[in-house]
Amino acid sequence: MTRSATLAGVFDDLAPGYDHDHHEAVARALLDLVGAGPAEAVADVACGAGAVALQLARSRPSAAPPVLAVDVSPGMIAAGRSRAASAAVAAAIDWRLADAVPLPVADHSLDVVLCASSLHFLGARVLDDWRRALRPGGRVGFTLPSATHFRPSERFSALLAADVPLPAGAEDAEAWITAHGFAGAVSRVHTLGTRRVVVTTATTPDDR
Ligand SMILES: C[S@@+](CC[C@H](N)C(=O)[O-])C[C@H]1O[C@@H](n2cnc3c(N)ncnc32)[C@H](O)[C@@H]1O
Repeated sequence: MTRSATLAGVFDDLAPGYDHDHHEAVARALLDLVGAGPAEAVADVACGAGAVALQLARSRPSAAPPVLAVDVSPGMIAAGRSRAASAAVAAAIDWRLADAVPLPVADHSLDVVLCASSLHFLGARVLDDWRRALRPGGRVGFTLPSATHFRPSERFSALLAADVPLPAGAEDAEAWITAHGFAGAVSRVHTLGTRRVVVTTATTPDDR
């Protein structure tokens, strides 16, 4: 079984009892830091049940381009579609059941790539694809659990990407994304109940 298929199975199992409250709070923190203009092309990578895509869809005018929402788990995508229909924003999100890499977009066509609570499963390979997909000066925004508070189960530990070190704080996250060729990194630490999350934004260098 491929790694992506294993992850899809794990998150299909989790979809019915998913902790929406926590992920909504993470999405709010991410969108507070990064934001997206009404005309900007945005992707929610490893969108799960759409915490980020839904908040964005609810806050944008109906003429905004649909948010591209990609996830490998059929259960998560089904939950997201159902939540979007209930929130009357079905047309504002373009759901895709697919691996996050490569994103199903043309080169340099996105303004913003958002990725909540997922980069540590996807691995650093996504960063090359984000640079491909983003226009020069485009923005990334991602969240990672802080190493100081993350206590994954054995099942989750086995799925973590070895090349995405969990940050202890803002400086670690900023240094990591800068070392991978992004500019202007800014990170913030949020404590959400018993969990701590590091939220980061950075831009692709405008030098192509
Ligand atoms: C902890 S959940 C976060 C979901 C969502 N971003 C949120 O904030 O609620 C991690 C998500 O990553 C997805 N995922 C893991 N590996 C993936 C891959 N290779 N391609 C696409 N999605 C992936 C899982 O299916 C799952 O929905």
